[in-house]
Amino acid sequence: MASKENKIALNDNLFIGEGMGRKCYIHPNDKNLCVKIPTLRGQRSSQREINYFKRLHKRGKSFEMIADHKGDVATNIGKGNIYELVRDHDGQISQNLEYYLSLRDKNITSKMVKLIEELRVYLKDQYILFSDLDVDNILVKKDSVNSHKLIVIDGIGDNNQIPLLEYIKPLGVKRCVKKWDLFKIKIAKKFPNLDKSIKGFND
Ligand SMILES: Nc1ncnc2c1ncn2[C@@H]1O[C@H](COP(=O)(O)OP(=O)(O)OP(=O)(O)O)[C@@H](O)[C@H]1O
Ligand SMILES: [Mg+2]
Repeated sequence: MASKENKIALNDNLFIGEGMGRKCYIHPNDKNLCVKIPTLRGQRSSQREINYFKRLHKRGKSFEMIADHKGDVATNIGKGNIYELVRDHDGQISQNLEYYLSLRDKNITSKMVKLIEELRVYLKDQYILFSDLDVDNILVKKDSVNSHKLIVIDGIGDNNQIPLLEYIKPLGVKRCVKKWDLFKIKIAKKFPNLDKSIKGFND
């Protein structure tokens, strides 16, 4: 059993944000990592995601556009899961895609649209399954003043965990196409002006 000394201490000063299933904190010992604490209702999906990440590691996938799972840790508020924390080149925690699209700046929007297509191609080429992609679960990492990259922070793996999808690729690909269509519908609902430009983003 982990002794008290091995536990890391999380507090409100380290709090970054929360969703329906997890609270997210800056790791007190490493500013480039975060610790996610699942709520009772978020426990199953968190564990499912972590198990999937472990299989992605075994399969040698690229983690270029997803925030990688880096292990687990005992905390003062329960068991936590460590992930890469997405920060911009200036050290700020990256904003999400919803923030950038909400700026309604033509140049930024067209940049984001290109990045959305890059993300689709990356997930497809790496054959990484995803479930609830949304504009608030994708961060936009500013690598430099002019260079941006999308990083998915939530919703990796299939939410039904149908094992066949991972091993019978045509089934998984079909599922990803369907999930990507749902993502596009979500984007178009929030940003109707993007409907046309993202429509063609499929095979
Ligand atoms: N890797 C990360 N880097 C920076 N911030 C993060 C990271 N992961 C999560 N966050 C922040 O913490 C919030 C909650 O995390 P997360 O989306 O994983 O929780 P969730 O409960 O699974 O969300 P949902 O309700 O979408 O299922 C995010 O919206 C984001 O603000
Ligand atoms: Mg989320």
